[in-house]
Amino acid sequence: MKEFPRNFLWGAATSAHQVEGNNIYNDWWLAEEAGAIKEASGRACSHYELYSEDFAIAGQLHHNCHRFSIEWSRVEPQEGNFDPLEIEHYRKVIADLKSRGIQPVVTLHHFTNPAWFSRRGGWVNSGLQKYFLRFTDKIVREFGAEVKFWITINEPLVYSSHAYLLGAWPPKKRSLFETARVTFNLAQAHIKAYRLIHKIYKENSLDKPMVSIAANLQAFELCRPTLKNRLSVYLRHKLYNLYFIDELFRRKTLDYIGINYYGRNLVDVESWGIRHLLLDTCKYNHHPLRKNSLGWDIYPEGLYKLLLAVKKYNLPVLITENGICTEDDDLRWDYIREHLLQIHRAIQDGIGVMGYIYWSLIDNFEWDKGFTPRFGLVHVDYGSQKRSVRPSAEKLAQVSASGII
Ligand code: GAL
Repeated sequence: MKEFPRNFLWGAATSAHQVEGNNIYNDWWLAEEAGAIKEASGRACSHYELYSEDFAIAGQLHHNCHRFSIEWSRVEPQEGNFDPLEIEHYRKVIADLKSRGIQPVVTLHHFTNPAWFSRRGGWVNSGLQKYFLRFTDKIVREFGAEVKFWITINEPLVYSSHAYLLGAWPPKKRSLFETARVTFNLAQAHIKAYRLIHKIYKENSLDKPMVSIAANLQAFELCRPTLKNRLSVYLRHKLYNLYFIDELFRRKTLDYIGINYYGRNLVDVESWGIRHLLLDTCKYNHHPLRKNSLGWDIYPEGLYKLLLAVKKYNLPVLITENGICTEDDDLRWDYIREHLLQIHRAIQDGIGVMGYIYWSLIDNFEWDKGFTPRFGLVHVDYGSQKRSVRPSAEKLAQVSASGII
């Protein structure tokens, strides 16, 4: 029997474009319409209409926090035109959560951009950061009094690499130079947004907010102990896992560390060259582990190792995503339980983990992978939009209710 700290945050996450439906003003929608993405998000989970029903389920599951994103392209569909009805929508969303005793954890940027922003060059163009800051200013002035936890940018490196290096997400580029530029611009945008959010809270005499990013961390492990592989593991851990956190820590713009963790990345580099060193993984089934339905390796111990790796910052940690897509709900519970045990182990070792947010509350639109992967604690029938709570969700609910696993 393991006990989690009192006041531990228990919850699940979503992001606007993946669940709301009809986000017609963003770059993803345009790419989907143009046939550049295999499946279109369409009405997704109709969460825009059904949020209260979904939050009622989260409440029944004893969640005391919920992570979601505010869709920039809804709030500002044309440059400079903020839509008051959409601001009211998100006011209701936050009020609904709070009425259930669920603390909102609000993401400002979760992969999507307003179409007008990407038309002008998006995150490659450093001159456009000011628009993200104006949106941040607007949202934080509106909702600051109701929100303590902010995430400025979700997985900056996943975004920059999928959109600008791998050519998988809009605008589907393959340029190392642009990837570096976007990554740099996202770091700058976070630093400025962090300062802005704190300034607004101070001006309004609000208690200090907790502001961070959600960093995707991967357990990079050696397939074979060759020199290339060793160098690659070292580089990927330094650049992919720690570069962003290091930089923001150095600039004193992190109140906690938000970590999204899914599993192991088994490194096996084919030949010398920067792309190989940064991207190659083992193509064979060496050192096999259990896998999710997308073939990602399940590796709970990796989370423990990464939590140890961020101990040096001496900041609180929030697990802002951890989850599995699978058709096997017993495996989902094993995944959750085993990760919780590793988190508990890290807490025993003195790492200040504040909470656990499962990805995702409901099945949803998994970007370029479409609707097939099912990550939800709650099953969604996309035909009828009916929700059904999975047994794994009930098991997690027992842990969140008691704080004991
Ligand atoms: C994260 C991302 C989420 C979700 C999840 C599962 O990288 O923040 O939007 O898609 O992965 O793949």
